Amino acid sequence: MTDIDTALESLTIEERIALTVGSGRWTTVAYPERGVRELWLSDGPHGLRRETAPDVSVPSTCFPTASALGATWDRELVQRVGRALGREAAALNVDVLLGPGINMKRTPLCGRNFEYPSEDPLLTGELAIAYIRGVQGMGVAACLKHFAANNQEQWRHSISAQIDQRTLHETYLRAFERVIEHAEPWTVMCAYNRLNGTYTAEHRGLLTEILRDQWGFSGLVVSDWDAVTDPVASIAAGLDLIMPVKDGATEALLAAVSNGALAQEAVDQAARRLLALADRTTSRGPATPLTDEELRAHHELAREVGRASIVLLHNDSGVLPLSPQTTSIAVIGSFAQVPVIQGGGSANVNPASPGPFLGALRQALPSAEISFAVGVRPDGESTETDVAQEIAEAVAVAATAQVAVVLVGSLPGHESEGYDRAHLELPGAQRNLVDAVIATGTPTVVAVAAGSAVLLGDWHDRSAAVLHWWFGGEAAGESLADVLTGSCDARGRLGETIPLRAQDVPAYLSYPGELGEARYGEGVFIGYRWYDAMELEVRYPFGHGLSYTTFEYEDLEVTTTAEGLRVEVSVQNTGARSGTDVLQVYCTAPPSLVRRPIRDLVGFEAVSVEAGVATRIFLDIPWKDLAYYDVAAGGWRCAEGDYRIEVGASSRDLRLSTAVAVPSWPVSASVLTDEGIDTEIRARTRN
Ligand code: BGC
Repeated sequence: MTDIDTALESLTIEERIALTVGSGRWTTVAYPERGVRELWLSDGPHGLRRETAPDVSVPSTCFPTASALGATWDRELVQRVGRALGREAAALNVDVLLGPGINMKRTPLCGRNFEYPSEDPLLTGELAIAYIRGVQGMGVAACLKHFAANNQEQWRHSISAQIDQRTLHETYLRAFERVIEHAEPWTVMCAYNRLNGTYTAEHRGLLTEILRDQWGFSGLVVSDWDAVTDPVASIAAGLDLIMPVKDGATEALLAAVSNGALAQEAVDQAARRLLALADRTTSRGPATPLTDEELRAHHELAREVGRASIVLLHNDSGVLPLSPQTTSIAVIGSFAQVPVIQGGGSANVNPASPGPFLGALRQALPSAEISFAVGVRPDGESTETDVAQEIAEAVAVAATAQVAVVLVGSLPGHESEGYDRAHLELPGAQRNLVDAVIATGTPTVVAVAAGSAVLLGDWHDRSAAVLHWWFGGEAAGESLADVLTGSCDARGRLGETIPLRAQDVPAYLSYPGELGEARYGEGVFIGYRWYDAMELEVRYPFGHGLSYTTFEYEDLEVTTTAEGLRVEVSVQNTGARSGTDVLQVYCTAPPSLVRRPIRDLVGFEAVSVEAGVATRIFLDIPWKDLAYYDVAAGGWRCAEGDYRIEVGASSRDLRLSTAVAVPSWPVSASVLTDEGIDTEIRARTRN
């Protein structure tokens, strides 16, 4: 008998049930006399929100949010963030950190997109693996959420995501599957929404058949907060912990066990998993407080990640990086003093030490005269006359400067959990502000702070440079100053497409759904897969981002191994300064029985290279990453044929290409033909 079995044996059925229900908003039940301790669960993905009273939390490092992490494409950096978060959690005795969130960005309108890395499952999955390794390496459980298909906030407590099986596995479950396979998160959180009619908190197919039976998940499944309406149905479906404590849940579960409606084994299993989680997290030992040195290091890490995430979208004029000889700069926008560093909702962190932009810029360019105008006020309380006055002040400041830097983007509350954005434009009168500053003729750099794609108006073509700044965490201002002044390379790459028009977005017609259902009719074609298949122009493609140096790719070689493909390519820094490139590998599958995207991202690597140096990169791509989900077989399949492998700097900047013959995979699978399928379907539909 294991220690966990012994502990379970010592508990009455009432106590076992109580363990599955939680004891407060953030804690579980304890039986110290039986060696069962309380577990503490805290948000969140980009910083610790350890509450001491409702909506009051201990100051902690606010890292850039997930979409910024997504734009780094850097596993090592993200793992370091995970470690720092794990350390901050451990210092406060937090056992479970409620992140990472890995839902797919189906529409840029989703209010919670800032909490998700990308529109691509491979990029999302790889970065989540790194994050979880970092957190769990510190003895703190990560919590993979929201399982699954939580792709909009509108009607999130009732909407049913209607998704066909191939799309579900290939797009919405794929990152989850990857993470379960490679990182073993200790916990998973279900979502609020329904999936094909059933609440995910009660979805046995999802929580037990797919998650545990197919993928082999051995950890604990916790509900999203207040997501459980029927405790008996949830525990029966495979949920282990109902959070927070729910009135009447214990009684309902006890009655169900007593009258046979719920097998006691389901309760025992859930309680056993909670005890196992306590056991796992105990390994980290007693909490030691964070030192000032650690806090400073975490702030520096937030700054480093922030600058690695900023995407230089265009710099046609070459105005960036700002030269040290720049004599005068007009900085416009309230974000220069108080940047928007994160989105709203449960992920909100009380930042330990926010670093403003203006101070950092003045420090980096001490001899430049830096003037400031607030631009349009962020409180939304300005009248039309006020706005005209504010814009006139900004114009006066910009007109006499050598270069203008305008900071715009989502205002506090614009992007948040609980609701979606109403549109993809810059909020309020910011567009007029940008137009007016550009019209002064002063070269204008525009930095857009937002958790997801924002439409860049026609001002884009008249600007000198544009950057996507994300929600950059507590060091957002310093990170931006670093990139603008070129103290580091510009190295962020888009983890999501920036469309030209809202109407081009794949879910345009089916979002937010109707009569309680959102039909994911675009299938596997979300993000760049959609824009490519539809041959739509976009403002900036997935994977795009400029550097302050230039990179070339050479000598692409692709060979097959028993497990998949080996891709080798050289990346050469052909510019005059060191820099970091993100090498991207895409694959075009041959025609098969299902319609495949034009290309899928199948590999990537962030590579730092000195000026004039070339480095050889090796990437192993398992067959599964080239495969589609075969619904009939209930698994992944590669059709035999020639696969085109392309290497480039974005999904639309592909520089090298080669074809490789791929055998049918898995080897044991029967070879499908149209005729075979046709015969099978006819046979099935006759019965
Ligand atoms: C969110 C979760 C979060 C939980 C606890 C819910 O509203 O959806 O992501 O972890 O609250 O704060």
